[in-house]
Amino acid sequence: NVESTLSITVVGASGDLAKKKIFPALFALYYEDWLPEHFQIFGYARSKMTDEELRNLISRTLTCRIDRSENCGDKMERFLQRCFYHSGLYDSEENFGELDQKLKEKEIGRQPNRLFYLSIPPNIFVDVVRCASRRASSENGWTRVIVEKPFGRDAQSSGELTRCLKQYLTEDQIFRIDHYLGKELVENLSVLRFSNLVFEPLWCRNYIRNVQLIFSEDFGTEGRGGYFDNYGIIRDIMQNHLLQILALFAMETPVTLDGEDIRNEKVKVLRSMKPVKLENVVVGQYKGHSKGGKSYPAYSDDPTVPKGSVTPTFAAAALFIDNARWDGVPFLMKAGKALHTRRAEIRVQFRHVPGNLYSRNFGTDLDKATNELVLRVQPDEAIYLKINNKVPGLGMRLDRSDLNLLYKSRYRIEIPDAYERLLLDAIEGERRLFIRSDELDAAWALFTPVLRELEEKKISPELYPYGSRGPVGAHYLAANHNVRWGDLS
Ligand code: BG6
Repeated sequence: NVESTLSITVVGASGDLAKKKIFPALFALYYEDWLPEHFQIFGYARSKMTDEELRNLISRTLTCRIDRSENCGDKMERFLQRCFYHSGLYDSEENFGELDQKLKEKEIGRQPNRLFYLSIPPNIFVDVVRCASRRASSENGWTRVIVEKPFGRDAQSSGELTRCLKQYLTEDQIFRIDHYLGKELVENLSVLRFSNLVFEPLWCRNYIRNVQLIFSEDFGTEGRGGYFDNYGIIRDIMQNHLLQILALFAMETPVTLDGEDIRNEKVKVLRSMKPVKLENVVVGQYKGHSKGGKSYPAYSDDPTVPKGSVTPTFAAAALFIDNARWDGVPFLMKAGKALHTRRAEIRVQFRHVPGNLYSRNFGTDLDKATNELVLRVQPDEAIYLKINNKVPGLGMRLDRSDLNLLYKSRYRIEIPDAYERLLLDAIEGERRLFIRSDELDAAWALFTPVLRELEEKKISPELYPYGSRGPVGAHYLAANHNVRWGDLS
């Protein structure tokens, strides 16, 4: 058994994602001894920098989240000593060849395994992959490449990107990240469902009235307007993060927990859905607002956003799955920036109890008596189930209360960042949480027609004040499907 060395190259090392997420996640893995004994990390970018300068740059965002003692500082220093920098152009085979030489110096006598993290804009993915695969891929070990969305802007450009990448890499080498799949509560979704008898039999149209996938942020596109305006909230959040959660939620039972089996089921459920219709979509854009003496800018105030942009910063949509399990059940999505709160959650609203003996205790609003299961992905991870309960005492008064599993009270464990889990999985070759190309195609097939229609018809988004609960159109959309948003009731 030859020992191996792991070389991780973060391409785009001076960018925001690398500094805020990737290096800190690698440090956390190192801190907890998840990285192999022999490893090296290279930052690769255009700017000229020494190893020392890279270390300074990344040390500012490394945090001792697990342990704040002195020991952490020592470990951080040791980690930084394993980080190096190589400056090069993204389309230069020669520069990647030089990187290859530097990697080799540290790999002598061991099996070289190489992981490239492309933390760069998508228009240069293919150049980097071409140069890296020709000049810096491993000869005797494995080479894997992590790419991060946006994977194109629609079905066609995404298909094109996949074809180009596959000229140089096999599907097995491509790890498409959707960081929501690395979040604790999203991973827990299948545990909750498949290992609890109280949930699994209820997971279908007979018992579930609707499912809501909600994402909101309490800040705008500050500083990212240029990127965002080209994509909009549907491409930024719905087509990937929320749709991935939906697929995991709604898939049939996989044959095993193997990555291929799970992804097979996710593809099947995505392919059982019809493309989203325009009448089932509401779009919004935030406008400026003053509150408590402070004024908040409109999306259109961002200098990097083109004048008169109709790019949505909010969207709500209703989706349907045409299969025996989910026929007729609305899956509602809502995603927005500059809303009143930061939150991501999955809400499952159950049907009414047939012939409920206690219905009169709920007045005319029977919806208030239905059970609701909520998985709060963030912040403050929790799972709670709304049940009806008798208020103690004489008489018969009912109360809807929560069976509440609040993670921070139950587990004295720091919840890892999504990037830690995903990087570790990529290192271990575990593909379960990465998006396969057929999944990506199926996801784009659902949203491409409506995106095109919105853009061709230049549909004006409904304006909503910064810090509000979003456009009222979202309520009408839900009401059209007999749904009330659980986060607002
Ligand atoms: C990214 C989006 O994928 O997810 C951002 O591009 C968004 O617009 C971010 O802010 C949210 O991620 P998280 O993990 O902070 O909820």
